[in-house]
Amino acid sequence: SEQNPEIRKGLAGVVVDTTAISSVNPETNSLLYRGYPVQELAARCSFEEVAYLLWHGELPGDDDLEAFEALERGQRDLAPNVRRAIDDIPTTAHPMDVLRTAVSVIGADDADSEFGALADPFAVVYPKALRLLAQLPAIVAYDQRRRHGLPYVAPRDDLDYSSNFLHMTFGEVPDAVVVDAFRVSLVLYAEHSFNASTFTARVIASTLSDVYSAVTGAIGALKGPLHGGANEAVMVAFEEIGSADKAEAWLDDALASKRKIMGFGHRVYKNGDSRVPTMRASLETLVEHYDRPDVLDLYTALEQAMETRKGIKPNLDYPSGPAYNLMGFDTQTFTPLFAAARVSGWTAHIIEQLSSNALIRPLSQYNGPAERHLA
Ligand code: SDX
Repeated sequence: SEQNPEIRKGLAGVVVDTTAISSVNPETNSLLYRGYPVQELAARCSFEEVAYLLWHGELPGDDDLEAFEALERGQRDLAPNVRRAIDDIPTTAHPMDVLRTAVSVIGADDADSEFGALADPFAVVYPKALRLLAQLPAIVAYDQRRRHGLPYVAPRDDLDYSSNFLHMTFGEVPDAVVVDAFRVSLVLYAEHSFNASTFTARVIASTLSDVYSAVTGAIGALKGPLHGGANEAVMVAFEEIGSADKAEAWLDDALASKRKIMGFGHRVYKNGDSRVPTMRASLETLVEHYDRPDVLDLYTALEQAMETRKGIKPNLDYPSGPAYNLMGFDTQTFTPLFAAARVSGWTAHIIEQLSSNALIRPLSQYNGPAERHLA
């Protein structure tokens, strides 16, 4: 009853709705996208195929994929006013703030009404979802470049999503092993049920607001270090620690001052994150490619120290942080990369929310002053 409700702080353990998009299974340490194990998708599928799967519910056939790729490749460039809006933001701003603002500008430019989204959510949301998926790399890549005084690199429509993303960031397509590690990270980041940013997107969608508002809100939720911001924070910690031999002492200090160790722990997985082994393997490939064994030494030293002291295991942000660093991304760009991948999952959830919508509006138990009156 409202007098004596059971309160679950942080909605921990609360099931708020059904979803057919993904299932996170801590008991079996597995993650399925539309029924497919994420490891199989990471081994065999492009990021485009995975986005298609999340949105459509099935993997594309050859013709479907060709049409889908043409649509995605045709929309990668940023409109001049979006670029100007980015240029107007100081380079001291966090890249997640730039991304949030740019998505907002893209939304304000989109004159297509979302009236009718409830009658046919897919028809209304899908074109906007695809536009965002295609354009987020341009925003993220350009923002990193302008911080280094470098000009915008135009998209190439002869490249797949992952190669083009790297091309737009670095001005060239790196070696195949690097592109592949990047693709794997995007597939792993694409979707993860009712995490905080996805839930945020669903809350906003549930008021019949609009796709861009929902995605902008999701970006805000993802920014925090308890969520997507952790991949950036992992790298900051690595830089603070310096080398493997200092990991234990650093950790003891950090734990003594009650610091949360970024990249460790998870609300749902208590026995390890199902995505970590796959991303760790990609990190190993990068370590070999760039001949940086020191990175893996530090990675392992901190992981082992955390295991002995707290018994807490890494989450996906732990291997992806150093992987993105090796690829050449700025530390502050890591969370925008997560956002660029997750926009596929966010928008799949917006479609699903609207397909059986109920306004999301929980209750609270009042514990302020008893009724009183102005003197
Ligand atoms: C993501 O939800 C998703 O699916 C998210 C995500 C996705 O794909 O969308 O998987 C992506 O957000 C990964 C998580 C990234 N965040 C971090 O790496 C930040 C560090 N992690 C922690 O703050 C924490 O583990 C959370 C926020 C991830 C989960 O927090 P919970 O479920 O609220 O658990 P808790 O904070 O209550 O921790 C339980 C215990 C506590 O100890 P006690 O008070 O019981 O003694 O474990 C300890 C915590 O202090 N603990 C940690 C710790 N994580 C948990 N102690 C030190 N460092 C940590 N990282």
